[in-house]
Amino acid sequence: TRTQSKNRTTAVVKVGAVASASMCVLFGGLVVAQYFLTKKKRAGKKTKIIEMMPEFEKSTVHIRYPERVEQIICGMIKGGASKLQVITDFDMTLSKFAVNGKCCPTCHNIIDNCSLVTEECRKKLFQLKETYYPIEIDPHLTMEEKYPFMVEWYFKSHSLLVEQRLQREKLPEVVRESDVCLREGYEHFFDRLHQHAVPMFIFSAGLGDVLEEIIRQAGVYHPNVKVISNFMDFDENGVLKGFKGELIHVYNKHDGALRNTDYFKQLKDNSNILLLGDSLGDLTMADGVPNVENVLKIGFLNDKVEELLEKYMGSYDIVLVKDETLEVPNSILQKIL
Ligand code: TMP
Ligand code: MG
Repeated sequence: TRTQSKNRTTAVVKVGAVASASMCVLFGGLVVAQYFLTKKKRAGKKTKIIEMMPEFEKSTVHIRYPERVEQIICGMIKGGASKLQVITDFDMTLSKFAVNGKCCPTCHNIIDNCSLVTEECRKKLFQLKETYYPIEIDPHLTMEEKYPFMVEWYFKSHSLLVEQRLQREKLPEVVRESDVCLREGYEHFFDRLHQHAVPMFIFSAGLGDVLEEIIRQAGVYHPNVKVISNFMDFDENGVLKGFKGELIHVYNKHDGALRNTDYFKQLKDNSNILLLGDSLGDLTMADGVPNVENVLKIGFLNDKVEELLEKYMGSYDIVLVKDETLEVPNSILQKIL
């Protein structure tokens, strides 16, 4: 029986040796395959910088032309802080679209949901949203086709707000009690731009007074930030009586630079632009800016992803799908500044 047991042990040892040898071969093979795959991927894309950035590995990041993105980022790195400026949308770009599956409010929604508006008015505002928001994001309509509907939405919605005789002094409390949330990493984004004195142009079709209150309460309304938006006009008692200046809606942002020529003239040496948006209308925010060398357009795609991804990838350089963070823009700033 001792001989039998010895034979069995030898057999087990032999099987073990064969198994571990095959594991080694398999593992070695995998490593070699991985090496060639990575090499091929690199050779195909011809990029160096973005491949070394872990933020670009996230599944939320979609890029149609990596070489182009690489080239733009290289140009921006070369230019550094002194040549950079940021032009960004606000709602659903700097602010979050959703938290745990629950939608976050736009500047307008903060007012729609607040206790200062009557139930009847709230109902009308929600009905307007149900009619016009689907048009805003309809993948089958052109921006020109959407344009008149947006004007209609803003006209009706702003008229309802004026009827409510909103008081200016109540706005800080309304914002404080809202569910608005800036994207993860916003402190880093705003603070870094401030630190390096990079001008930041927030161009929003939202409500300027609400927007300013949000970034003030978040502690990031630094002196390098300029807000262009729909600002409320209050009477001498601080009651809303209308809106100042020309209306900014989702699809007339191409006029932005033309309407703010003084600002952009001052920044004629800041020829590298980082543009952030979430709507196809935001793509035109840098139109008319004089002396542009490089523009990097980053788009957040939050809704109707399947229908819109192709279109977004064709027009934004980098598309971030359901990404509630500023990690990618921050990683790019890290390289430039
Ligand atoms: P943005 O330019 O900062 O993204 O802000 C515009 C957003 O506001 C746009 O997505 C439409 C939205 N909006 C509302 O949520 N409610 C309204 O009543 C109106 C007129 C616009
Ligand atoms: Mg937006």
